[in-house]
Amino acid sequence: MGTEEVWDTKVQQFHGGQDWRFLDNFIEDFSVTTNALGTPKAALEAAKEAIYTCHHYPPADQEPAKTSLAQFLWPDDYSMHRDRLLLGNGASELIDLITRSAPLGTWKPGPWDVQYKEYQRSAETNGRVILQAQDTTPANLISIVNPCNPTGDYKNIIDLKHWIDINVEDGGFVIVDESMQPWLSREFRSDSLSSQHDFLYSLYESRQVSVYVIHSWTKIFSCTGLRLGSIICPTSAHCDVLKKLQVPWSVNSPALAFLDAVVKDTAYMEQTWELTRKWRAEFIERLKGISEAIVQAKDDEEYAWEFKGKSFLSYIWINVKSEAIAKEAVAKARAAGVPIRSGTPGYERPTYIRLAVREPSKVDILIKAWSKLGRN
Ligand SMILES: Cc1ncc(COP(=O)(O)O)c(C=O)c1O
Repeated sequence: MGTEEVWDTKVQQFHGGQDWRFLDNFIEDFSVTTNALGTPKAALEAAKEAIYTCHHYPPADQEPAKTSLAQFLWPDDYSMHRDRLLLGNGASELIDLITRSAPLGTWKPGPWDVQYKEYQRSAETNGRVILQAQDTTPANLISIVNPCNPTGDYKNIIDLKHWIDINVEDGGFVIVDESMQPWLSREFRSDSLSSQHDFLYSLYESRQVSVYVIHSWTKIFSCTGLRLGSIICPTSAHCDVLKKLQVPWSVNSPALAFLDAVVKDTAYMEQTWELTRKWRAEFIERLKGISEAIVQAKDDEEYAWEFKGKSFLSYIWINVKSEAIAKEAVAKARAAGVPIRSGTPGYERPTYIRLAVREPSKVDILIKAWSKLGRN
């Protein structure tokens, strides 16, 4: 049994991150885009403590976690924006909630080659007309994942606002997924749409366009099993509409306690910014060695791997230029207890693989598993 059999792909969207439980020799998960530092200790302890309150309902107002997250997002003026924030059972709950409440009509993804698929799944199951990324027709619901998972493309705030302006119909909805954006740097807030209050208000006033910013917190804080996401609405009235639709207590007590603690862990964020870039660059150098060995063995430059994505990100999207080599890479990684994400299921990019950035000692194991890759 493996990842592909876990998902009922006739009715569910495939995602990575399931292999680990089927591997007796499991060592490290390279298949999900979680933080290489692992789960922050203090927040994990807070979640464990909260388990002892499981005979009580979680707070209906999601406090104090919601205010703590608001302080993390807007350290200077959080109290002005807190009422525009709603927490969810992972970003996935909020993606579906917002898609269901958008005015019916067309849906279009971001301009990337491929992007995280839940937006499209939700648009399709809600009966929307799907436009292609290259279509220049504005849509009345557009969803851009920025930075993009899996490709690692990123629009800075100026380009992002321009893309929104020209791609959404008047009266439409825009969802911007910034789950990977806090990895940017200590200054991530200044390049984030979550800080563009005037732009969001004026787009709503002038064109009745509603812009929502979604974050999955399960990646940067490495807590995919806990389920934590948030949505920033253009106004508190928009937030009330979502609150009315949301099932009560969708974020459980351990997840709320975790969030409340984790956003105060500044040392963890500092380490994230410092080490992710470094480990990513070193990882790519080592992978280049494998690519060069394949090129030499095949005596063909066409086999040189292409490494995609911004240098600050927690993952690398790689075109290995051959379906056979991509398959072999996935199989060998799995056999060595270090599963990776194939580009085939869900993304339909059979010559691609996605690797999470991980600490060097774990990378050693993957590199060793691929010592003869493409040369059998
Ligand atoms: C860009 C992006 N958004 C949202 C999600 C959903 O995250 P979750 O529901 O775990 O919070 C993911 C998960 O892979 C993602 O990569």
